[in-house]
Amino acid sequence: MSDAWDPSQYEQFQAQRRMPFDDLLAMVAPVPGGKVLDLGCGTGSLTAELHRHCGAAETLGVDSSEAMLGQAAAHTGEGLHFERADIAEIDRRDIDVVFANASLQWVPDHPALLGRLRTMLATRGQLAFQVPANADHPSHRLAAVVAAEEPFATALGGRGRDEHLRAVLAPDAYAEALDRLGAREQHVRLQVYGHHLPGTAAVVEWVRGTMLTPYRAALEPELYEAFVSRYSEALEAELGSQRPYFYAFKRILAWARFA
Ligand SMILES: C[S@@+](CC[C@H](N)C(=O)[O-])C[C@H]1O[C@@H](n2cnc3c(N)ncnc32)[C@H](O)[C@@H]1O
Repeated sequence: MSDAWDPSQYEQFQAQRRMPFDDLLAMVAPVPGGKVLDLGCGTGSLTAELHRHCGAAETLGVDSSEAMLGQAAAHTGEGLHFERADIAEIDRRDIDVVFANASLQWVPDHPALLGRLRTMLATRGQLAFQVPANADHPSHRLAAVVAAEEPFATALGGRGRDEHLRAVLAPDAYAEALDRLGAREQHVRLQVYGHHLPGTAAVVEWVRGTMLTPYRAALEPELYEAFVSRYSEALEAELGSQRPYFYAFKRILAWARFA
């Protein structure tokens, strides 16, 4: 799945994608001289900002995509470095800030995942993450509908489905999970990011860089393009051809500090 990530496709909506990052970063208290871990660091430019904001001595950005890490390498230096690792398996200790912007949705079983991330934290460590909560939006819902149609259903054989959307919990469930894990302070909120896109077709470009990635990995190139074209049709049928199109994108931002 990871190798299907395309950094240039992802960066196409950089300005819009950085808004939730800025909001998440504002929730994190600096940890001068501390250790920071950025899970699913992508192209690394936001990891560099996280590193500066925290005043960390050491920040490690990890990602499972070689293509993303290839871009991130340019930011290496002054305590910032990058490694290939899977969020589902990584194990570190004594981290002051575990940060994950738009990446945990790719990993299942969030109650267990948060429990594991909590064990990586140092005393008074902070956990901060942001996940999309857009599974009920036509842009996300219709991908699952098209995936259940033939010839895609057979070709996918259960792969590339929308597990990453189903992994995301409700905001109150995150708050409860953080409390169960012993959070001393916490802040969880649902926020709608409204993006004015040129038209509904731009939504397809947006999700090509993220949500459709597992489908790209699971399907032969020709069939993947047929999938995208059928998905675009379904999207236009539901949304109409609005120009511009207001893309209301829900996201959950969560921050907690532990004892
Ligand atoms: C939507 S991008 C977010 C990138 C970056 N955090 C940002 O805010 O721009 C999601 C990133 O998570 C990475 N990713 C997905 N699943 C992963 C996993 N299981 N382990 C590590 N990285 C993963 C992808 O390769 C991708 O770079």
